[in-house]
Amino acid sequence: MSKVTLLVAEKVRKDFPTPDGPLSVLKGVDFSLKEGELAFIVGRSGSGKSTFLHLLGGLDRASEGRIFFKGNDLSQMNEKELALYRNRKIGFIFQFFHLLPELTLFENVLLPSLMADSPNSGRARELIRRMGLKGREGHFPSELSGGEQQRAAIARALVNGPEIVFCDEPTGNLDDETAEMVFGLLTSLHRETGLALAIVTHDEQMAHRFENVYRLHDGVLTQDQVSI
Ligand SMILES: Nc1ncnc2c1ncn2[C@@H]1O[C@H](COP(=O)(O)OP(=O)(O)O)[C@@H](O)[C@H]1O
Ligand SMILES: [Mg+2]
Repeated sequence: MSKVTLLVAEKVRKDFPTPDGPLSVLKGVDFSLKEGELAFIVGRSGSGKSTFLHLLGGLDRASEGRIFFKGNDLSQMNEKELALYRNRKIGFIFQFFHLLPELTLFENVLLPSLMADSPNSGRARELIRRMGLKGREGHFPSELSGGEQQRAAIARALVNGPEIVFCDEPTGNLDDETAEMVFGLLTSLHRETGLALAIVTHDEQMAHRFENVYRLHDGVLTQDQVSI
């Protein structure tokens, strides 16, 4: 049975206004992600990886081109519809975790389900357990290590049962050993649940353990040669 295509980007451009005129970061990017697919995006610092992920995740809008989630054009959605897309359909994991400091680990993980008007404390607790954080529910982010904060952020990203999780340098702020552990959790989630993942990383060695690696360079995305 053929897999459903979740995400399609067509000729996506993004220009940022600057005092010296528009900065053209993405110059016609095509991309697609199917159900159960794991894709890596690599590229130098400043090549537009975060910009692209933000467009795919509905955090910002493309200057030109189209992005479709299951056939629905993000550029045609109003702010409310985009907020629903971000809250229900996708999850986002950032380099610097972005947990809310005044909330406990449990509250941080639960929050997206409260925002969706369907609080799911059972699922929040199960994900916290799955991430190896049982017993830490009442701790604040400042009481957690970087790796623990990122595992909490993964649980938060999953609490509403998203179809895709976007990860922007999820291990970029972690030491090698912790990075390996977080990376292992993400890829095992993918294997076990078929969750579609798009992972931006500067760690090419990690990315090249897998086949599906794209490179962003000079505003254009190309598929890397398989090197295994
Ligand atoms: N809001 C913005 N306004 C102006 N320039 C921006 C903005 N966001 C990103 N840029 C620029 O776009 C380029 C790509 O940035 P980014 O997507 O963060 O790259 P990467 O994640 O690959 O390091 C950089 O030159 C950056 O300075
Ligand atoms: Mg970035």
